This record gives sequence, structure tokens and C-alpha cells, in this order.
Amino acid sequence: MDKENTPKIIIAIDGPAASGKGSLAKKLAAMLEYDFLDTGALYRRVALKVLEQNIDPANKDAVIAATRALITELSAEYDDSALRNDNVGSTASKIAQIQAVRDILVEFQRDFAKNAKKGAVLDGRDIGTVICPDADIKLFVTASVEKRAERRYLELQSRGINAKKPSVLAEMQERDDRDKARLDAHLNPDHDKYLIDTSGLTPQAVLDEALKIINSR
Ligand code: DC
Repeated sequence: MDKENTPKIIIAIDGPAASGKGSLAKKLAAMLEYDFLDTGALYRRVALKVLEQNIDPANKDAVIAATRALITELSAEYDDSALRNDNVGSTASKIAQIQAVRDILVEFQRDFAKNAKKGAVLDGRDIGTVICPDADIKLFVTASVEKRAERRYLELQSRGINAKKPSVLAEMQERDDRDKARLDAHLNPDHDKYLIDTSGLTPQAVLDEALKIINSR
């Protein structure tokens, strides 16, 4: 490996939907001046294409073909509010079950970490287990499903979307079930992770906790 391209520090942040991992990852990367990759955005980008092309997410061959067609235009910087809607999120969680789709997206993510100059923060579901198993710091950021559903409900309200609390909770539980294999991998004691439960914490307290862990290393 080219020495100049060797990342100094890789921080892997995994956790379920609406756990607060994304905003933590973004803040840490800005503070430390590290590169930042929201890996969920890659799955969401594929999901958006699947939706735009009216592909059935259960049609594996069509989803894989759509993913392949996107390879050359994958980006680390999606600032597309279209990716943030719940339909895209839930489709992303469905297409993420297809191993070939994951395999196609792995290389982009690993290259991103490898090419970081000073360091990189990546957030997702499988960063500490599959993408960067040798990451210097692995955080598993979580919160109760009720708390995460509450956050999602408030976020939808703030965007003027009138959702019903019980259906937001049910959707969150479905997402957890689909993402389960990857989330459970973090419970394996072989994967040496720091757990941050954000249920009762403010975003600032979550950041403080993460910095405490990073500084202790
Ligand atoms: O983190 P997010 O909500 O933006 O991710 C959307 C979906 O993508 C999520 O439900 C599962 C999938 N995903 C994944 O399987 N692996 C990742 N590293 C990131 C996301």
C-alpha cells in the first residue's frame, strides 16, 4: 500500500436507524478534520434508483444490475434531500439484504478509508465488522427502539410530514428486523466495540462520550 495513502486513524461507527450515529460521525469528522463517509447514503442512492426505475426491490437481478450501473458515479458527498425520505430508507434496508449489492458497494467504502489522508470516520452497519475490521476505534451507537421512533416522529413533524406515532414505531421495528444480521454481529464479543447508548443523552453528551473514548486511546 502507498504509504502516503495510509490512513492515520479510522473511526468506525455502527448502529441502528435514528440512533444518532450519523450526526455524531459528521461532528467528529469535522472536529478532527477527517474525511467522512455516510455509508447508508450509498444504499439509499441505490434505493432511489430502484424506486425511480420502478424496480421491485425483491427482483434481485434487476437491483444488482441497477447497482452495477451506479458504480462509476458513486460519491462520498450526497447532499440530496431525496435520499433522506422514509420510502428511500426502507427500500435501502430491503436492497441491503442482497449480498451481491453489498459486495459491489464494499470496494468503494474500503477505498475511501484507504485513501484518507489524515483519517476517516465511516458510519453504517458493518463498518467495524466488514468494511474496516482493523479500525482504530469502533463505536456502536444505539438507543431503545421507542426512543429512536420518537426521534424519527419529531423529525418527520419538523419537515411538515404528518406521520402516526404507532406506524413510525412499527416501521422502525421492521427496519431493525431487516438490519438484524448486521446489528447482531456487533454483539459478538470478538468485535471489540465501545457501546454508547444515546437514549437519555443530548447530542452534546454523545459527542463528549465519544471524545472521551477516542482520547483514552
Ligand atoms: O443508515 P441509514 O438509515 O441511512 O441506512 C439505510 C439502510 O441501508 C439501512 O436500513 C441498512 C442499509 N445499510 C447497510 O446495510 N449497511 C451500511 N453500512 C449502511 C446502511
